[in-house]
Amino acid sequence: MDMIFSFLSSALPSAWSSKASAVAEAIPDSSIHGARVSYPKESVPALYPNEKVGERVTSYAEENSSALPSHIVNYHDMIQKSQPKTANYMIHMSEAQALVFIAKTVGAKRVLEVGVYVGLSMLAWSHAVGPDGKVTGLEFDPHFAAMAEKSFSDHGVENADVIVGDALETLATLTPSEPYDIIFIDAQKSGYPLYLDTILKRSQPGIPNRLLRPGGLIIGDNVLRCGFVADDSTDNPWRNFDFGKHRPQYWKSQDVMSLKEFNAGVAGSARLENWLCPLWDGVNISRLLD
Ligand SMILES: C[S@@+](CC[C@H](N)C(=O)[O-])C[C@H]1O[C@@H](n2cnc3c(N)ncnc32)[C@H](O)[C@@H]1O
Repeated sequence: MDMIFSFLSSALPSAWSSKASAVAEAIPDSSIHGARVSYPKESVPALYPNEKVGERVTSYAEENSSALPSHIVNYHDMIQKSQPKTANYMIHMSEAQALVFIAKTVGAKRVLEVGVYVGLSMLAWSHAVGPDGKVTGLEFDPHFAAMAEKSFSDHGVENADVIVGDALETLATLTPSEPYDIIFIDAQKSGYPLYLDTILKRSQPGIPNRLLRPGGLIIGDNVLRCGFVADDSTDNPWRNFDFGKHRPQYWKSQDVMSLKEFNAGVAGSARLENWLCPLWDGVNISRLLD
């Protein structure tokens, strides 16, 4: 067996549903040396010794973590079936479990999400903050925003709203009456440095209508991007993955450069402390100190 595919088939749980890029464009399954593989960004090859162990560990962790409400699980399944080209934009269900746990742990009541797609992760935030909380989403695709709003009304969710527009512009214009407890960044990767900069500038101590409260969390999704952010050498077999003609040499792309800038900005900020979680596609969880 080819060395690359041997590595992939042994290291990557095939059952993972993956959430793809924040650009409004699906990355189809592709092939490496003729073998079908799924888009790899939620792989965790360093954590499990082979595919079977990885699948079982992942399932075990999901089954032994607090269950998500059935309407969220069912909506995820429905989108997987009905929107096959873009369903992988959604966070993995075990990531949703983690985000709900984090939100409840910090007592979050106000969450802002940058990059909504059809509302799956907003349903998770909505559940986490409870009926007396509030979730606001920023999404520039009106079709996705309408699907998200429909999912809220279909499920009786009254604490979630989507603002349609380019988050690179709308984020800076928000004037929340109370600051957010969590801001989840999950839109286009090239925008991450500006989103971080805007959040920090608009959350200075003492300014009116600050975005994030002192002690609030900034959570950036997909910050490792198939591991390219940390290792874009030829040791990373995903360099051989076909990301499509629009993404040649993806490991050198603006997405990857912007994510490096974002992670460096978080790590280098005296106003933040963080943990870069290497699960899924990498989740950078930081806490605003002031
Ligand atoms: C990865 S998806 C979000 C998935 C969602 N958080 C979930 O897990 O269910 C990213 C979304 O960000 C949106 N997006 C990308 N760039 C954006 C921008 N500049 N402003 C607003 N939305 C943007 C895309 O249209 C897409 O729906």
